[in-house]
Amino acid sequence: MSQIPLDFSGYTVMVVGGTSGINRGIAESFARAGAKVAVASRSEEKVEDTVAALSVLGAESMGFAADVRDQASIKKGFEDVERVLGKFDVLVSGAAGNFPALANGMSANGFKSVVDIDLLGTFHVMQAAYPHLKKPGASIINISAPQAFLPMVAQSHVCAAKAGVDMITRTLAMEWGPKGIRVNSVVPGPIEGTEGMKRLAPTPELVSQATQSVPLKRLGQPDDIGNVCLFLGSSLASYVSGTVIPVDGGWALGGVSAFSATLGDFMMQMSEE
Ligand code: COA
Ligand code: NAP
Repeated sequence: MSQIPLDFSGYTVMVVGGTSGINRGIAESFARAGAKVAVASRSEEKVEDTVAALSVLGAESMGFAADVRDQASIKKGFEDVERVLGKFDVLVSGAAGNFPALANGMSANGFKSVVDIDLLGTFHVMQAAYPHLKKPGASIINISAPQAFLPMVAQSHVCAAKAGVDMITRTLAMEWGPKGIRVNSVVPGPIEGTEGMKRLAPTPELVSQATQSVPLKRLGQPDDIGNVCLFLGSSLASYVSGTVIPVDGGWALGGVSAFSATLGDFMMQMSEE
């Protein structure tokens, strides 16, 4: 049997929003697999900390601080990364914002801030990355969420934004496929210890209910998501494009809706207090 091609030596991987949680886990997975890795997010401190950790893993690494709502600063950062690390073989776009809020408990600006980061930010990142992508051969991975295709109470902003992200994935897979660029979304389930989980399941009871609502009866780990990103970034996935792949222990089969009902009860109770 031939060797499974998960050696990313010589590959350049750009992870936007790669300085904490799931996306940092993805950056570390690629670093362990031999890639050169760049990360970006708003906080200079988080960027520096992540770049140091990637170097310890043996990766040639760099980073820049930028807000995905500001496309000019993302463009400038990408230019610097290409100059040092070369054209991008893999682009991961995962910057996101989330807070649980019932529609009546959120201002129009609250809704807009999540749409601006998740949806408009994804467009900014992909469009700005285009000149820096290896053609043919680049793989783009957008980090989505189950809220993209399953409604969740207190998540109208995230549901709307992430549904849009998956449609950008599909549309640009069609527009950029002829250039040899693959575009896919990865949909994490509930991932242990992350900011997203802290916000959606702020009590031990909610964490336990989330865990029990997953068919595999465990929360995911960043590595679970990193492993699928390695697959999508590799030649093993050379005919995979335009897909939305849940990596969630089966959560989307029903658990997401059960959890939504529990979160809904919690939010209603909080709004009455
Ligand atoms: N409930 C209701 N509205 C909220 C809210 C909450 N829990 N948290 C923030 N908002 C509203 C704010 O009130 C504000 O609206 P206003 O101007 O009408 O008052 C709006 O959202 C923007 O908030 P602000 O703090 O100015 O935005 P920001 O750009 O600094 O931060 C967020 C963006 C709000 C998404 C912030 O939570 C963030 O930076 N998140 C990144 C980390 C994260 O969410 N990780 C999980 C990813 S799944
Ligand atoms: P996280 O740790 O908060 O990660 C978010 C990352 O994006 C951070 O690096 C953050 O760094 C950056 N970021 C946020 N706003 C930004 C902006 N405006 N511009 C640039 N960078 C920005 O969250 P997480 O829980 O791991 O979630 C990561 C991704 O997985 C998100 O796309 C989320 O929707 C998705 N997801 C998470 C879960 C889960 O269980 N956690 C489940 C499904 C989907 P800075 O603060 O420095 O900007």
